[in-house]
Amino acid sequence: VKKCALTGRWVNDLGSNMTIEPVNANGDFAGSYHTAVTATTNEIKVSPLQGSMQKGPNQKGQPTFGFTVNWSFSDTTSVFTGQCFVDDDGKEILKTMWLLRSYVDKIEDDWKATWVGYNVFERLDMHME
Ligand code: BTN
Repeated sequence: VKKCALTGRWVNDLGSNMTIEPVNANGDFAGSYHTAVTATTNEIKVSPLQGSMQKGPNQKGQPTFGFTVNWSFSDTTSVFTGQCFVDDDGKEILKTMWLLRSYVDKIEDDWKATWVGYNVFERLDMHME
């Protein structure tokens, strides 16, 4: 059965692109995220991400993972968590959910500071082993 690998280039349903660097033995990885959309009026810039992939005892090739994007053009932070699946055609797909913490000036605005959503990623090019 084909295993799902995170390393490589991905595009999501919004048209955002990300590149994930090779995952190390602990499951840690770095990468970069180019979002297609922004909640700000700032110019979008490619931003760094840091993540962790599960290497648990029952791992059967469709690992769960999480990563944080530290937006370089915005005061917000996003975290994604998801699972890497291989579909019936052997195509890899990342099913994720995210939380975006926006910046608010005062604690009274905390209630409206966290947004939630869903993204699906497909591989942009073939993963080289
Ligand atoms: C910001 O606007 O403050 C930073 C960019 C946020 C982009 C969000 S993160 C969740 C969602 N998925 C994407 O690919 N882009 C948006």
